[in-house]
Amino acid sequence: MSAPEFYTRVARLYDALARRGPFVGGLREALADALDPGPGATVVEFGCGTGANRPYVEAAVGDGGTYVGVDFAPGVLRVARERGRARDDDPGAFVRGDATRPPLRDDRIDACFGAFVTGMLPDPAAAVRTWADLVGPGGRVALLDLARTTRSWWRALNPAFRLFVRAGSPPGTARSLERSPAAVQDGRVAAAHRALRDVCADATYRTLLGGFARVSAGTVE
Ligand SMILES: C[S@@+](CC[C@H](N)C(=O)[O-])C[C@H]1O[C@@H](n2cnc3c(N)ncnc32)[C@H](O)[C@@H]1O
Repeated sequence: MSAPEFYTRVARLYDALARRGPFVGGLREALADALDPGPGATVVEFGCGTGANRPYVEAAVGDGGTYVGVDFAPGVLRVARERGRARDDDPGAFVRGDATRPPLRDDRIDACFGAFVTGMLPDPAAAVRTWADLVGPGGRVALLDLARTTRSWWRALNPAFRLFVRAGSPPGTARSLERSPAAVQDGRVAAAHRALRDVCADATYRTLLGGFARVSAGTVE
C-alpha cells in the first residue's frame, strides 16, 4: 500500500492521536515557538496530515497571518478541512501535493516546517534544501521529528519505539527496506536536521521527551 493510501485509510485514527495523543500538544507548542514566524507571516507545513499544527501556527501568526498545509494523502486533507469547518467555520488552506516538489509559488512564503515527516522522505536533506529555497534568505524553517534516543536512562524504551515506528508505517514498508523502519527513520531524521543546520546560520536544536523528540529551527542564510 502506498503512503498516501495508508494515510487516507487511517486519517481519522491519526487525527485523534495527532490532537490528543500523550505529549503531542507540548511538542507542537515547542515547534511553533522554535519556528517563531512572527505576526502576519505566511507559513507552510509540508506533510501537514490532518492539520493538528494549524492552531499552534495560527496563534503564532495572529489574524494577519496564514497557515497553508500541503500533503499528498487526500484523506488527511479531507479531515483537516472538516476540522477547520467544525472549529470556526473555516476549512483553511490545504493543498494536495508532494512535499519534495512544493506545489506553491515562492514569492510570499515567510516560513515553513515539517512535523513527523522527514523520516518518511527518501532524501530528506534535499527536501529541507528545497524548503529553504522556497522561503529564501531571511525565511524561517523548522523541523519536529521522532527518532530513537541516545540518552542512557531512556534507551530501554527504544525497542518499544521501534514497534511504534513499525506500527505507524504503511504495510510492506519493513520488507521494502534494508534496515528496520526505526533505523531508516533515525538516519533520515538526522540527515534532515543536519541539512537545516547547513542552510541556517543561527540554527537551534533541542531534544524533548527523553531525547525521542528533536526540534530544529533557524533563519535561512
Ligand atoms: C506522521 S504524519 C504527520 C502529520 C502532521 N505533520 C502532524 O504533525 O500531525 C506524516 C504526513 O506526511 C505526509 N507525507 C509523507 N510524505 C509526503 C510527501 N512526500 N509529500 C506530501 N506529504 C507527505 C503523509 O501523508 C502524512 O499525512
